[in-house]
Amino acid sequence: MSITFTVNGNQYNVDDTQGEEKLLDFLHETLDLTGTKFCCGIGVCRACTVSVAKGQSTVEEPVIACSTALSTLNGTRITTVEGLSDGENLQPIQQAFLDHFSFQCGYCAPGFVMASKVFLGWLKNAPKMTEQQLDEAIANAIGEHICRCTGYVRYYQALKQEALAIIGNPADNRLSTEHAS
Ligand code: FES
Ligand code: FES
Repeated sequence: MSITFTVNGNQYNVDDTQGEEKLLDFLHETLDLTGTKFCCGIGVCRACTVSVAKGQSTVEEPVIACSTALSTLNGTRITTVEGLSDGENLQPIQQAFLDHFSFQCGYCAPGFVMASKVFLGWLKNAPKMTEQQLDEAIANAIGEHICRCTGYVRYYQALKQEALAIIGNPADNRLSTEHAS
């Protein structure tokens, strides 16, 4: 038996005797993908967040790589921060974090980027929401990520900018909701 998954589009087969190995160790030690950061190692800080989709599903979830065993990843598609940019071209959320000076040392940034990517993907198909609901959704998406350098506000502002680019002005949603009721 083997465990099969893809990382950034490349397929890997791992013997199930490696099933207890943590995804973060596999990324660092086997694939030499060190963009996903190790910090607390106990599932608290979320610096090690990657995105995972099951099978052919387009639904992605944020996964904490330091605490996720390879045995739980059979049949999944994993994306790390290295899988986002196209050469020199960054994803819009990466550029937004840069433009807003969201980070200083940057150690937490890959985790924020991956959680935000998952959130923005979800937002494309989310029900209409008010600005308050959007703020709460953003807080749910990145509120548990720990950054020791900044005040989080600029991460939040950058993500909200990208969210608004997807859903438009929430005030319009509020008006249409009020009109319908
Ligand atoms: S290193 Fe994984 S949650 Fe902190
Ligand atoms: S920018 Fe240093 S930990 Fe977040």
